[in-house]
Amino acid sequence: MTRAVVWLSSLVLGLTWLLPAAVMSTPPGICRPMNTLKESLNFTNRRQYMKHNFPINYTIRVHYEEVFRVHNISRLNRTREPDPPKLEARDLQELWLLINQEVLKKVLRVLPERHPSRKYVSDLENLFRQIEQVFRTELGEWETPERLKDFESLESGTLFRRGKLVKPKALLDNCYRTMHCVFCDCFQCQENFCDVLHWKRGNKRPPKQA
Ligand SMILES: *[C@@H]1O[C@H](CO)[C@@H](O)[C@H](O)[C@H]1NC(C)=O
Ligand SMILES: *[C@@H]1O[C@H](CO)[C@@H](O)[C@H](O)[C@H]1NC(C)=O
Ligand SMILES: *[C@@H]1O[C@H](CO)[C@@H](O)[C@H](O)[C@H]1NC(C)=O
Ligand SMILES: *[C@@H]1O[C@H](CO)[C@@H](O)[C@H](O)[C@H]1NC(C)=O
Repeated sequence: MTRAVVWLSSLVLGLTWLLPAAVMSTPPGICRPMNTLKESLNFTNRRQYMKHNFPINYTIRVHYEEVFRVHNISRLNRTREPDPPKLEARDLQELWLLINQEVLKKVLRVLPERHPSRKYVSDLENLFRQIEQVFRTELGEWETPERLKDFESLESGTLFRRGKLVKPKALLDNCYRTMHCVFCDCFQCQENFCDVLHWKRGNKRPPKQA
């Protein structure tokens, strides 16, 4: 083979390799566990396990960064050209994974061994681990962008600020809503899941699947 042919065929190979990733921002293997997660986080379950099974008005202390709501995402996603560089879809998804895994740890920490919500929360943790595994397998390690470096301290447990008291159901409501925004590909994004107003309407009695 001439050099040009070798070069050309490796180019073609390279392109076919790159193409699926470029078209679909969410790793294809992610949507199955994401849909299982969506089912587990349905309104009935959130209300039962995160509200009814707790004393009235019970709150958990979390870091401010763990209160991750839809409006946070639009703020993070906003571009301030030329610096700092724009976040990729994956960055927001990885951040969502990181924060919500910390949230689940916080909830689990307050539940005694025999608490009726304990199994529910550990099952959710397992699902999250599964999702993280798919990310590592399909996309490799994630390099935290400079802008999100601060969030790494959540995981390393080096953050000792006092934080905020939040109801456990509110934490999982946040998780459920932001999930629709950052993994929109998995949930047929017909409506604007990243729009705060979309979720405001359904606040009291969520419509349809919410
Ligand atoms: C929520 O999920 C549970 C199973 O985890 C199921 O029994 C229940 O019917 C679901 N509720 C709704 C409203 O889909
Ligand atoms: C729970 O909080 C609501 C609103 O803050 C308050 O009106 C209500 O009295 C509280 N209930 C109890 C039992 O503390
Ligand atoms: C979300 O916004 C609140 C303030 O509205 C802030 O305290 C919190 O740190 C933000 N969380 C993230 C993950 O950016
Ligand atoms: C981030 O912004 C881009 C446009 O700059 C938009 O296409 C994308 O949907 C936004 N993503 C989220 C999660 O808001």
